[in-house]
Amino acid sequence: MRQRAVLPPPWQFFQKASAGAKLARRSVFFAVAVGLGSAALSGIGLGYGPLALADPPPAPAPERGRELIRLVRQDCGSCHGMTLRGGLGPALLPENLSAQSPPALKYTILFGRPGTAMPPWQPFMTEAEADWIVTQLLRGFPEEAK
Ligand code: HEC
Repeated sequence: MRQRAVLPPPWQFFQKASAGAKLARRSVFFAVAVGLGSAALSGIGLGYGPLALADPPPAPAPERGRELIRLVRQDCGSCHGMTLRGGLGPALLPENLSAQSPPALKYTILFGRPGTAMPPWQPFMTEAEADWIVTQLLRGFPEEAK
């Protein structure tokens, strides 16, 4: 029984085609999941009302708070400047942001600005954490603990 079934050409084609179909199905699933996820997030956001964030946004647990401060200072800082005075991205100081509505800033952070270098951060933080970051940016963002 060392014989291996060698499929005739039409079957080989079918096998290849079905592998392709599987891939296509997978990417459709992915697109739907991402779509639903964003829809759910913006649905929650609308609940907050057009002009205010959850008031006041809950402070993250101390350890997560330190992580978020580090994220903003390091990762956001790589584009917005370590002192948040601007770089590739605009300054994120209170005087630069206060003209914008907090929810608009939150959505910029969560979903990025398509067509610009500003990436979406929604995979890395919850909506409540984005609220907290916006509130802190508008107050003058805390320094990393030394
Ligand atoms: C890869 C570079 C890059 C990184 C990293 C980045 N940003 Fe941005 N960000 C930009 C750019 C570029 C813009 C301006 C987009 C535009 O032209 O509207 C922007 C815009 C913004 C704005 C809107 C500012 C305004 O005046 O309208 C906010 C708020 C912001 N970013 C917050 C953040 C935060 C918070 C992080 C980290 C969690 C972050 N960004 C990380 C590039 C970046």
